[in-house]
Amino acid sequence: MQAKGPSRPKLTLKELCGGLPVSPLPPLRTRDPSIAHAPVRTHNLSPKQKERALTNALRYFPNPCHRTLAPEFAEELRVFGHIYMYRFFPDIDMRAYPLHEYPVKTNKAAAVMHMIMNNLDPRVAQFPQELVTYGGNGCVFSNWAQFWLVIHYLSVMTEEQTLVMYSGHPLGLFPSDPRSPRVIVTNGMVIPNYSSKDNYDEMFALGVTMYGQMTAGSYCYIGPQGIVHGTTLTVLNAGRRYLGLENLAGRVLITSGLGGMSGAQAKAAVICGCIGVVAEMSEEALRKRHDQGWLQEFTDDLDTLIKKIREARAKKEATSIGYRGNVVDVWERLVAEYEATGDLLVELGTDQTSCHNPFGGGYCPVQLSYQEAEEMLAKDPSKFKTLVQESLRRQITAINKLADAGLFFWDYGNAFLLEARRAGADVSDPKSEDPLTFRYPSYVQDIMGDIFSLGFGPFRWVCTSGDSADLKATDEIAYNVLATICSEDLPKKVQQQFADNMRWIKEAGKHEMVVGSQARILYSDQRGRVKIAQAFNEAVRDGRLKAPVVISRDHHDVSGTDSPFRETSNIYDGSAFTADMAVQNFVGDAFRGATWVALHNGGGVGWGEVVNGGFGLLLDGSEDSNYRATLMLNWDVSNGVARRAWSGNDNAQDTIARSMAEDARLKVTLPNTADPALVARALGHR
Ligand SMILES: NC(=O)c1ccc[n+]([C@@H]2O[C@H](COP(=O)([O-])OP(=O)(O)OC[C@H]3O[C@@H](n4cnc5c(N)ncnc54)[C@H](O)[C@@H]3O)[C@@H](O)[C@H]2O)c1
Repeated sequence: MQAKGPSRPKLTLKELCGGLPVSPLPPLRTRDPSIAHAPVRTHNLSPKQKERALTNALRYFPNPCHRTLAPEFAEELRVFGHIYMYRFFPDIDMRAYPLHEYPVKTNKAAAVMHMIMNNLDPRVAQFPQELVTYGGNGCVFSNWAQFWLVIHYLSVMTEEQTLVMYSGHPLGLFPSDPRSPRVIVTNGMVIPNYSSKDNYDEMFALGVTMYGQMTAGSYCYIGPQGIVHGTTLTVLNAGRRYLGLENLAGRVLITSGLGGMSGAQAKAAVICGCIGVVAEMSEEALRKRHDQGWLQEFTDDLDTLIKKIREARAKKEATSIGYRGNVVDVWERLVAEYEATGDLLVELGTDQTSCHNPFGGGYCPVQLSYQEAEEMLAKDPSKFKTLVQESLRRQITAINKLADAGLFFWDYGNAFLLEARRAGADVSDPKSEDPLTFRYPSYVQDIMGDIFSLGFGPFRWVCTSGDSADLKATDEIAYNVLATICSEDLPKKVQQQFADNMRWIKEAGKHEMVVGSQARILYSDQRGRVKIAQAFNEAVRDGRLKAPVVISRDHHDVSGTDSPFRETSNIYDGSAFTADMAVQNFVGDAFRGATWVALHNGGGVGWGEVVNGGFGLLLDGSEDSNYRATLMLNWDVSNGVARRAWSGNDNAQDTIARSMAEDARLKVTLPNTADPALVARALGHR
């Protein structure tokens, strides 16, 4: 296959909006060797199913193109395991353009385009040519035909149409009305019994479903900054909770991954003042973070790494050190150092390999080099799986030894412990009667505290002018809103959350974390989110901001995500494996005023393991957007708090009581608590 497309003049936005180019077809192209690419996708399609996959791909194109495209797409399926339609990778400077530059009939459509193009910006996206934004397989679309069609539909849509998206595929524009969302996205929705990894591989190869992660397929990713914020708060809180320290100078955090989200760890470690040591198998991923200035230095030699760790500990230096290699080697070397010298060189540990997808290339086994892993994954996936599981067992053995010596380890929401258990590693808590309880905590429940029950979660915004001065102005507005709320009489745990976020927002601008769109994130509760949105809308209206603002959030939130090993891991009434909350959230946001909504199967911890939803809402300065934001954001938080209150959570019961006191229309069913002794007696247990 040809290596790279010939150089051509770049497309304009107007040309991009003109629809799928078929006459003439764009020149043939395939993978650009100068950028990172998704691993070869594995599947077990039968010959008949391969014909189906090809037929499915060709239905986007008029019949006269089929003779040219059929062999090319067949080759992509054979070589890469998926039909991406590389020929249609657009020759445009892919980025979030200022809103007014999009040729559209409604600014709401332009806002969606701004966000889609940011998710595919090569500075932002993990594998831009495979339409993957982050997390190894978090796709915006499944192929490039879908991209072209979506951009075209958005450019012609009016406020009386809604674009319907089925797992990357634009089903079309359907009549609706101005109060409706402009886009409704569902990703990876399947009949529950067909949600296994094999089902996914098959349906993705057929081009009929895709993995949207959380903010990839919902167009709301804002670069690794979002996760720098979350990681900073996690490391700060881990220091407080496990080490009893506000100041982490001289303490070492060992972890892995410098990819889409995990890349934030190096930056966050420095912001927290500790020594962050991050192992990364991919030289490309490591260099990207180093060139960006987020990773301060790196080595591929374990002796040098240990020397650097010792020096940084002695100097109490806030730094980030990359290790180009396997994290298992780092953990095993730390054990060897401990056994040889008695020095425990690490206080805090976690892991951020893409363990939600360990056998599809998300986790590189220690027995193989990066290159060997890619080859084995393509040629012998079952051997690859065996090596991954062996590697996970070795990793846990080393971590367990160091934990016995005083290391604090936690699961970072990537299904690491779940996959380690499935691999047969010793991760069960010996002190628990429940064999499913892990010996290490999950960061959501144990470190972040019970913040979701307080209504705190990741609120984010994007300044669609693309102007950094607007972002600075919004930082100040958000800070002032939080400061005003904080001056009131609030419960201490709520004050602490606000204080951490005010510190963050004051510092955020200084750390130059914007990659792609002019975006910011903070954690706030219901009141804070509503008041910040209202204040932004007012600033758009009176011209303090040059263009509208999109508000959104990570799906990883109070109400957006049903995920029994993460966001809903502290739901103890037996409902942790239900997904009513996320589905209700998606529907409720849609009719309360969201500009677009999304509902996904999979995200963070993997396909079939979680259901999550999100939204985008354009604040254009109008009274209408003020009304929508107020109505929708209140629901977007109260839904999950009410569910958490019903499950018996005290924090959630206090929080929802405060919300009910503020709005007489809110009436939530609250639980009565039965006496456990009475229950046990009634069942004849005592
Ligand atoms: N931190 C969070 O708050 C958070 C939130 C949601 C999800 N996650 C999960 O975290 C994981 C990472 O996300 P991402 O976007 O960074 O994924 P990614 O695939 O972009 O990055 C993971 C990196 O780990 C590297 N890697 C794999 N195996 C390795 C090994 N054994 N040793 C060293 N490096 C190895 C890969 O080369 C890759 O660059 C995902 O499972 C994601 O779902 C984290």
